[in-house]
Amino acid sequence: MSRVIFHEENGVDRPVPTLAPGQAVQDAYGRPLRDLRISVTDRCNFRCRYCMPREVYGADHVFLPRSALLTFEEITRVARIALTLGVRKIRLTGGEPLMRKQLDVLVGMLAELRTPDGAAPELTLTTNGALLARQAAALARAGLNRVTVSLDAMDDAVFQRMSDGGVPVADILAAMDAAVQAGLQPVKVNMVVRRGMNDDQILPMARHFRHSDKVLRFIEYMDVGHSNGWRMDEVVTGAEIIRLISAEFPLVPVQAQYRGEVASRWCYADGAGEIGLITSVSQPFCGDCTRLRLSPEGKLFTCLFADHGHDLRELIRTGADDAVLAAHLSGVWLTRKDRYSEQRGQAHRDNKIEMSYIGG
Ligand code: GTP
Ligand code: 5AD
Ligand code: SF4
Ligand code: SF4
Repeated sequence: MSRVIFHEENGVDRPVPTLAPGQAVQDAYGRPLRDLRISVTDRCNFRCRYCMPREVYGADHVFLPRSALLTFEEITRVARIALTLGVRKIRLTGGEPLMRKQLDVLVGMLAELRTPDGAAPELTLTTNGALLARQAAALARAGLNRVTVSLDAMDDAVFQRMSDGGVPVADILAAMDAAVQAGLQPVKVNMVVRRGMNDDQILPMARHFRHSDKVLRFIEYMDVGHSNGWRMDEVVTGAEIIRLISAEFPLVPVQAQYRGEVASRWCYADGAGEIGLITSVSQPFCGDCTRLRLSPEGKLFTCLFADHGHDLRELIRTGADDAVLAAHLSGVWLTRKDRYSEQRGQAHRDNKIEMSYIGG
């Protein structure tokens, strides 16, 4: 099937320019498409208060039915096409991605994909770690390169208050070790910091992960979605975190490794390793944002704070060929103007997607 593809620009339908095979697509601000973040489920076995508070995501919450989810074949097809447009890194997220049955099979399918110049894309996964210990070896065998594990506290009581998941800290630490053992390295650890909730855990976390084979990253609490009742005064800024840690362990800034790196990196002056700061509230990084997100039901989102997506599933399920899908994907990227974190405060949005739906 071949169709001319149009995209809407300022209320006018315009044909999408044709790209040469393998030509990377750039958005309205010249940002290339480099990362594809694939959310494989909207379900999670935790109820982190900043993401899926139990009073919103209770027993009667309706999650997507299985028939609504993209199949592994459909996901792999979208990923294969995204690689022809510039994607070099694929991250699986959720909800909790390890709740999707046989995720290792999907990993195996994605691991076979190649970029136009024959390279394997980097394949990573963000997880809360609860199901990781038992799946790490199979995921590594299937071709996963590395994992990022969320952990918001060393203290069990604080961790329960944050995650509401009933899983002890020791199990998450054991899962990280299982991931290292399986070769999923480097393991990165994401800690969301929320003032008055877990900011007393910054130093215990820093102490624990110094001299370890894991890289700890502190994330500023963000106003994603509407469920968490976010308030600016609950944000502990990256600068505060650096001041706090460096009073005990002096830190030295490290150069970014690549354009679009989300975390700013610091290393301990005494050689005990490095930490990362993800400062999307106090120092937004939209200027280098190269991330496209695919929802569990096949919608493309060009920003974590978007209020609408672009449906691909309907096209896929009505028989669109690869050229049509590629034109849609590039059309969505070409017209992209998102920079929400830079506009926060001026840009009021009523229907932001939830993090549990689209992943970090
Ligand atoms: P690697 O460098 O591959 O480890 O990935 P990363 O640094 O992008 O890390 P990861 O995917 O784990 O993202 C870490 C956190 O940064 C997420 O959980 C989000 O909280 C935040 N984040 C990631 N991408 C974006 C983004 O596009 N916009 C904003 N505002 N925050 C983001
Ligand atoms: N602000 C910052 N980070 C968040 N995450 C989930 N919700 C938020 C939020 N509101 C993080 C999780 C996990 C990653 C997927 O995103 O802790 O590390
Ligand atoms: Fe689940 Fe992650 Fe959201 Fe916590 S932050 S509820 S682990 S999806
Ligand atoms: Fe990218 Fe949107 Fe995050 Fe800015 S706010 S870095 S545009 S996802």
